[in-house]
Amino acid sequence: MRGRFITFEGIDGAGKSTHLTAAAQLLESYGHAVLVTREPGGTPVGEGVRTLLLEAPMDACTETLLLFAARAEHVRRLIVPALEMGRWVLCDRFTDATYAYQGGGRGVPEAAIAALERWVHPDLQPDLTLLFDLEPAVAATRVGGARTIDRFEAEQLEFFARVRSAYRARAQAHAERFVVIDAGANIETVRRQVLEAVRAWISQ
Ligand SMILES: Nc1ncnc2c1ncn2[C@@H]1O[C@H](COP(=O)(O)OP(=O)(O)O)[C@@H](O)[C@H]1O
Ligand SMILES: [Mg+2]
Repeated sequence: MRGRFITFEGIDGAGKSTHLTAAAQLLESYGHAVLVTREPGGTPVGEGVRTLLLEAPMDACTETLLLFAARAEHVRRLIVPALEMGRWVLCDRFTDATYAYQGGGRGVPEAAIAALERWVHPDLQPDLTLLFDLEPAVAATRVGGARTIDRFEAEQLEFFARVRSAYRARAQAHAERFVVIDAGANIETVRRQVLEAVRAWISQ
């Protein structure tokens, strides 16, 4: 049986990476073979593109095309083959992130992103998307305390406010696959919400 494709979305510092591991462990405890991956990344080309994207200044158009170039590799070489083998794929960001960051954040036309999406993965959408929804100011303090920041994390709060609202619009427009997690709660509470959302989704 084909596996399931679950994506983790939200602004930088919202808690995606923290809770992906817990979700993977839950699914493994149910006996599923799980593949954890991320975007941009997941393949040699994807990881190369990731380094460029996080460091080199570039136009928003270039940024969008590079993201989809990395995604084309990721979908064809990793995600779809894994799903076909019956593995459950958990991905830290996917195309919703391009709508949110490049669309909402940088003003790339939604129609351009939609055209690339139709070309790169016409037959693939996440089965479930967890949106970690968090106030940008809170996310900034979490990121600031934790690590050296990259080109995206260095953006201003208004940028993340636009990204967040684009994410929320995606969640409303695709309510059949989105679950919005209140990422402002403490780690344990968020973890419970995540595991409950995955359990509820599996049992329905
Ligand atoms: N609910 C939470 N409350 C407080 N700190 C958190 C919470 N969730 C995550 N963190 C911390 O915030 C930082 C960013 O979390 P992370 O999972 O890396 O976010 P993302 O992958 O979405 O950018 C990490 O240091 C993490 O330990
Ligand atoms: Mg992360």
